[in-house]
Amino acid sequence: MRSVHVVQHPLIQEKLTLCRQKDTPPQEFRPLVEEITHYLLYEAAKDWPLEEKEIETPMGTARGYQVSRKKPLVFVAVLRAGLGMLSSALRMVPSASSGHIGLYRNEDTLQPVEYYCNLPGGLEDREVILLDPMLATGGSAVAALELLKQKGAREIKFIALVAAPEGIARVQKDFPRVNIYVAAVDQGLNDIGYIVPGLGDAGDRLFDTCDPL
Ligand code: PRP
Ligand code: URA
Repeated sequence: MRSVHVVQHPLIQEKLTLCRQKDTPPQEFRPLVEEITHYLLYEAAKDWPLEEKEIETPMGTARGYQVSRKKPLVFVAVLRAGLGMLSSALRMVPSASSGHIGLYRNEDTLQPVEYYCNLPGGLEDREVILLDPMLATGGSAVAALELLKQKGAREIKFIALVAAPEGIARVQKDFPRVNIYVAAVDQGLNDIGYIVPGLGDAGDRLFDTCDPL
């Protein structure tokens, strides 16, 4: 069984608090999601091995390091809300490839509905980092992970901003080898499947599609 990493760095917790506040507008919400993603990826990258390389500084020769990437990296964003994390992840690792999985939750059944899937080939030989800010019932994450598994992915990490215990339990049950990185594990789900206290509908807040007040 892999583990859940709750990254409690003060900068993450402060930025997540700003995200949670209901009066934070999309133009502030978006960069906050990007910044939190940056820090979560930093944590998820902790086990990446380094290899030495000799470099020339203006003063002479020095021993330097570069990430030793035996398997090329691919970031997979779950549409829509995972898109809010992708550009930040790509800034950290510009050489990574990207994949997209389109899923939305049926509002009545809370079951994920797939509407798009575009993934790079050769997933069996890549390290995959799945990006979706919200892990609620876990239905969407499990559906995305199933798709990745069907396409051959074997080495997968999952980064979310906020998780419910129910979603974590579901992913751990179905995908015990997937490491999960989150900024917070909240109390639970309300009767319409939203994380409480959570931050509301991440996609709506990123893309400004909330119903007018
Ligand atoms: C949100 C979120 C996850 C899903 C989590 O997407 O981005 O994909 O809900 O819920 P679950 O764990 O219960 O499956 P949503 O369905 O709202 O689609 P959107 O990103 O297009 O708004
Ligand atoms: N999707 C969201 O965007 N927020 C939640 O709280 C649950 C699912």
